[in-house]
Amino acid sequence: CGIIGFTGNLQAPGILVDGLQQLEYRGYDSAGIAVNNGSETKIVKTTGKVATLREKVEATADLAGTCGIGHTRWATHGGVTEVNAHPHVSGNVTLIHNGIIENYKELAASLKTKGFTAISETDTEVAAMLIDSLYDGDPFAALKEADQMLEGAYGFCVMFKDHPGEIYCMRNASPLVASHTEDGSFIASDMVALLKYTKDYFVVPEEHIVVMKADSITLYTMDGGVEEPKMLHVDWDTTAAQKGGYDFFMQKEIYDQPEALHNTIMPRIHNGHADFSADNISDDIFKGVNRVIVTACGTAWHAGLVGRHLIEAMIRIPVTVELASEFRYMNPILDEHTLVVVITQSGETADSLAALRLANERGAKTISIVNVKGSSIARESDYVLYTHAGPEIAVASTKAFSVQCAGMYLIALKLAEVNNLMTDEQMKDFCDKFEQAIGTVEEVLKMDDYIKGISEKIKDTFSAFYLGRGLDYGIACEACLKLKEISYVNAEAYCAGELKHGTISLITEGVPIIAIATQENVLPKLMANVEEVKARGAHVIVVTDKDMSNYEGIYDDLIQVPATDDLFATFASTVALQLLAYHVTVFRGYDVDQPRNLAKSVTVE
Ligand code: G6P
Repeated sequence: CGIIGFTGNLQAPGILVDGLQQLEYRGYDSAGIAVNNGSETKIVKTTGKVATLREKVEATADLAGTCGIGHTRWATHGGVTEVNAHPHVSGNVTLIHNGIIENYKELAASLKTKGFTAISETDTEVAAMLIDSLYDGDPFAALKEADQMLEGAYGFCVMFKDHPGEIYCMRNASPLVASHTEDGSFIASDMVALLKYTKDYFVVPEEHIVVMKADSITLYTMDGGVEEPKMLHVDWDTTAAQKGGYDFFMQKEIYDQPEALHNTIMPRIHNGHADFSADNISDDIFKGVNRVIVTACGTAWHAGLVGRHLIEAMIRIPVTVELASEFRYMNPILDEHTLVVVITQSGETADSLAALRLANERGAKTISIVNVKGSSIARESDYVLYTHAGPEIAVASTKAFSVQCAGMYLIALKLAEVNNLMTDEQMKDFCDKFEQAIGTVEEVLKMDDYIKGISEKIKDTFSAFYLGRGLDYGIACEACLKLKEISYVNAEAYCAGELKHGTISLITEGVPIIAIATQENVLPKLMANVEEVKARGAHVIVVTDKDMSNYEGIYDDLIQVPATDDLFATFASTVALQLLAYHVTVFRGYDVDQPRNLAKSVTVE
C-alpha cells in the first residue's frame, strides 16, 4: 500500500492526491484521503484508481485544510470496497496503515467487549479502534501501548481529533520515509512521493514514532527519547519519476536501461578489477566463500538464476537460488563460509527481509543487491551493493532486473578476484566483455519497431511458452513473467529439454514458442527441441545472437540481437523480450503499468 501525510502551510488535498498518484504502483484497488482544517476532519475515499479519487476530491465542496493523510490500497484483509478503503476512523482516531495486523481477530473480539464495533472487514480498522480505546489525550502513550499489543507489520499515520495540525506516525516493518521543508512536514511510504518537494529525507527506523507538526518533525524512540534522524539524499530529479514523453512508465524504464547499466557497472570496474571501495564493501566478505545462496522473490529471483549460471560456470563456486518465501522456513544449513546474496529492488519485500534476517542469525555472510537507498534490507545486510536504476514505477520490473543481473556479475568478478579464481588477464577480458554487453542494449532498443511487428502476430494468443537452456533458462523465466503479468497471456517457461516430458501436449497449431538461443554449447540441443514443437504447429520465435543459417525453416520469426560472449548474453535478449511483452500488452489494450491484482512492493508475507 502507499501512504502519504502532510502538515504545513500549503493546502493538503492536492499534495495528498499527487503523492498517491506517485505511489499508485504500490497498490491501486482503492484510495482515500483525510483532511483536517483545524476544526474538523473530512474523508473522501473510493474504490478504483487514484484518478477516480482525484475526481471525487475535486467534486467535494469545502475540502480544505493544511493537514492530512492519504492511502492507496492493495487489499489484504477484506474485499475491495469503499468501506474497506483507508482512512479508517474510530472516535478520536483517523488512521491509515500499510502492512498486516496478524492478531486483529483477537483484538477485535476483546474490543467488542468494550463497545467497539467495526464497520469494515479490515485489520486496519481494528488498529484504529485499539488506538482509540487506549487514548486518553496523549497520542504518544496510546501509540506506544498499541505497539505492545499489535502483532504483524505496520506503518501508521494517525490524526487525533483534539490535536489538529499534527500527524503521529509509527513504524514496525512497513517502510516510511519523512522530511521537513519550509513548506511543512511530509511522510510517505516511498521517497518518490516527496520528490516534488525535497530530495532530503530520513528513513523512519523500526519501532520509532514520528511527530509531525507544521513547523517541526521529531523522531522518537519508543521510550520517548528524541533521536537525530539520519538524513539521506536522492540524486534523482523529479523527471526520473515521470513518464517523460513515453506512453507508459514501463516503456520509459526499458529505455532507461543503457544508462541504468552504465551507472551501476562503470563506477565499479577499473583496470580489469571490481572496485567496491566507494560502496565501502570489504573484501573480507568474499574471502573463503565456498558456497553462495541467492535468495529473492519474483523478478529478483530470476536475476539469481542468471547469477547462479555465471558464478558456477566461471569460478566453480556452488550456488543455489532459493525463493525467499521458502528459504525463510527451510532451516537452511549456513555457516561463515556461505555468502547469502539477497536481491531486491525495493529492499522491503517481507519474505526477502525475513530470509536475510535468518541468514544473519545463522552466521552467514550477507550482501544485498538493492535499488532503494536506506531500505530495510540495505540496512540489515552486512554490505549492500546498490543498483543505480533510479526509481522504477511500472509494476513489471525491467531496468531493475537488468541491473540486478549486473550486480551478480560484479559480485562474481569480486569473488573471483579475492579468492584468486581468475588471472588478471581473465578479469580484464571479463570487464571488456561486460562493457561490450552493455553496449548491445542500445542496439536492441533500435529493433523496437521490428519487435513490435512480431508482437502483433502473437497478440491474440491464449498461451505461450518460453524455452531456454543454461543461462537462457533464467532469461526465459523473466521474459515469461513479463508477458504473463502484464498481458494476462497464460505463459510458462521451460528448460527446453523438459518440454517433452509433459507440456508438449499443450502445443497446438499457432501457439507461440519463444526460444532463447544464445548458448553455443547447447545450441543444437535447443534447436532440436524447437524442431519438436515446430513439427506440432507452434509459431516459433527465436531470440539469438548466433548465426541461424543452419536452422532456417525451423522458426517463423527471428530476433537477431548483437553477438556477445555467451556468459554475457543476458542483457540483449532480456531487453528484446521486455519489448515483446510490452507491445503484446499494448496491442491487447491493457494497462501496462498497473496490471490487475499486483503491487510493486510487497511488504506483507
Ligand atoms: C513484487 C513485484 C515484482 C518483484 C517482487 C520482488 O511481486 O510485483 O515485480 O519482482 O515483488 O520485489 P523486490 O522489491 O524485492 O525486488
